[in-house]
Amino acid sequence: MTGCAEYETEERDFLADVELESIREDEDDDSFFGLLQQFQIESECNSSESLPLYNGTWCSRNVLRKQRHWEKIVAAKKSKRKQEKERRKAKHLEGTEQQHSKRVLKAIRTEQLLEAKHAGPRLCIDLSVSDRMTKKEISRLAAQIGRLYGANKKAAKPFWLYLTSLPADSPIHEECVRMNDGFSNYLMDTTQESYFDLFPLETIVYLTPDSVHALEDIDPQKVYILGGLVDESIQKKLTFQKACEHGLQTARLPIQEYMVKNSNVKNFHSEILAINQVFDVLATYYKTGSWPEALKAGVPAGKGFVLPGQHSAT
Ligand SMILES: C[S@@+](CC[C@H](N)C(=O)[O-])C[C@H]1O[C@@H](n2cnc3c(N)ncnc32)[C@H](O)[C@@H]1O
Repeated sequence: MTGCAEYETEERDFLADVELESIREDEDDDSFFGLLQQFQIESECNSSESLPLYNGTWCSRNVLRKQRHWEKIVAAKKSKRKQEKERRKAKHLEGTEQQHSKRVLKAIRTEQLLEAKHAGPRLCIDLSVSDRMTKKEISRLAAQIGRLYGANKKAAKPFWLYLTSLPADSPIHEECVRMNDGFSNYLMDTTQESYFDLFPLETIVYLTPDSVHALEDIDPQKVYILGGLVDESIQKKLTFQKACEHGLQTARLPIQEYMVKNSNVKNFHSEILAINQVFDVLATYYKTGSWPEALKAGVPAGKGFVLPGQHSAT
């Protein structure tokens, strides 16, 4: 069943429920009025000039008072039911509107993603280095891939993503499936091929913290490669050397250009970010065109860098 047909069935069921309820209420009221009538007949008094006339019948004042009292109760009950029915209808409408807007949002995001697939920008995670990681590091990388994908899906201007050197039977693939719900349906390209065989050399920019070049802008015609690596014991220059061996263009995030070292007790300063943090910087820059804003969004305070004038005691 399509989403639309499903919605229509839900809508029909709901309206049928409301209808049924209203019939039941009418039946309730009928039986209630039946009782009332019976009560009236039983209590019917002899017609008398001194007694008040009610519905064409002469009644004692006591009976009349009781009848009016019952009528008030019935009216109050009816109005309460009506209010309740309206409240439920409004709630149902609100729910379906939310469902609608969620569906519309999902469709817009999918369209934006597919647009990035054709027009760029493109970001590729090179998993050829995943054999350099421990089991724990592989798990952390899989979680970072999930976070990066989630952030890209929500981005105002998303990238088209590639995961390369990812055979289906590799530990990193298994971990990605285990850690990330719906991984197999992610809207991105996954392949066991290398990025190197996939894209023309002149379009490739390998992002590595050890590059001498600072990234100046994001070009939708280029493919930006991230090293799929979590290195708790730092494997210095691993991706930089790899990129140089292949004669590729490299770039680092312009942290030194736009940020300053923040004094901290451990005197710790690191420009090495996790892949999802690098992505947050790139996506914010692509949306805003501002490096300070982008770096603020992606570089965690713990890395020991802040924007000028934003020193804090850590
Ligand atoms: C945790 S880092 C791995 C660092 C590792 N020592 C290496 O040789 O790349 C994961 C990846 O994020 C990207 N990355 C991290 N910090 C970066 C920075 N400051 N500039 C550019 N890319 C960065 C690189 O692609 C890097 O391979």
